[in-house]
Amino acid sequence: MRRAVPIPLIDPFDRRVKDLRISITDRCNFRCTYCMPAEGMKWLPRDEVLTYEEIARIARVCVERFGFEAIRLTGGEPLVRSHIVRLVELLAPLGADLALTTNGVKLPELAHDLVAAGLQRINVSLDSLRRERFLALTRRDELDRVIAGIDAALDAGLAPVKLNTVVIRGVNDDEVAELAGFGRDRGIGVRFIEFMPLDADGQWSTNQVVPAEEILERVHAEYPLVGWPRRLEGHGVEPAQRFAYADGRGDVGVIASVTEPFCESCDRVRVTAEGRFRTCLFAVEEFDLRAILRSGAAPDDLGPDGLGPADSGLAAPDLDDRLADAIAAAVGTKWAGHSIGAADFVRPDRSMSQIGG
Ligand code: 5AD
Ligand code: SF4
Repeated sequence: MRRAVPIPLIDPFDRRVKDLRISITDRCNFRCTYCMPAEGMKWLPRDEVLTYEEIARIARVCVERFGFEAIRLTGGEPLVRSHIVRLVELLAPLGADLALTTNGVKLPELAHDLVAAGLQRINVSLDSLRRERFLALTRRDELDRVIAGIDAALDAGLAPVKLNTVVIRGVNDDEVAELAGFGRDRGIGVRFIEFMPLDADGQWSTNQVVPAEEILERVHAEYPLVGWPRRLEGHGVEPAQRFAYADGRGDVGVIASVTEPFCESCDRVRVTAEGRFRTCLFAVEEFDLRAILRSGAAPDDLGPDGLGPADSGLAAPDLDDRLADAIAAAVGTKWAGHSIGAADFVRPDRSMSQIGG
């Protein structure tokens, strides 16, 4: 098989694309208010979801052809898909930095196996430490299990473990310092995320957004930060802007997606659970990679668990070329950035769980 040197993928705004986020399922065992309605989510039929072999093939093309450096598995909730450990085993040999974003509820039973399979890093979503509020936010009474999951991730050696916290005014903004303290106690960095217009109910409004500056102000008042106050500016490769605690106990980050978009340094692309390639969380256009993947294989070859047999036609080498061409063409449409808040902003008609966080 041909093994060319990877050619970096550069988008029209001169950004190198090298981070692939793959949603492996649109399903979830939570119903967070800012992501899903309480009831009535329509799940994708099983045969429309990419098999693990198909996912691994897209990932391999991105790494081998374009030198992608990072792969992150998302959902929905990635850990609700069966045999997830098997997918990690398929992806680990690619050698990219391999991470996963989860609500944490299944980590107590899965963390050690995920590490054994080659998972390196993990982000756990946690928006409240108060049981009633956690229940109201996620519509599930699972706070204790999520905390046990965070501890299991630490125990299994995932490093770093990070927390993702979406801050919503009037909902959990009074808990910012407490959540930062929870992270400090465990040696975990918290990443506070500005609330974005990706909720399923379309309830989002700008006055629910707590600006990153205000979030940091609240952290700083309790746990002084090095170099604060300072205007937020400049991004490294990660969208979070990080600040170290003055006492040396780790750091805290903010993801100012709304007030200070990091689009100019964006290096990401996404694949949805049904194999559509997206060049931005807020993209309105999608590119169907599944159609290419399945042009050589009948979908009903895939077996009841959707894992697909090893000989499902995926060996055809020119499929790699066609996938690579499609990905390169799609990246050629990557725009400069979203414009949440601007008059011409168009909300994607999918929610976070359907796109992949
Ligand atoms: N705004 C900001 N973050 C969100 N997430 C889900 N929906 C939203 C939203 N509307 C976060 C989750 C998780 C990550 C995948 O995306 O909390 O941490
Ligand atoms: Fe599930 Fe994550 Fe959406 Fe919450 S935010 S409903 S955990 S996919």
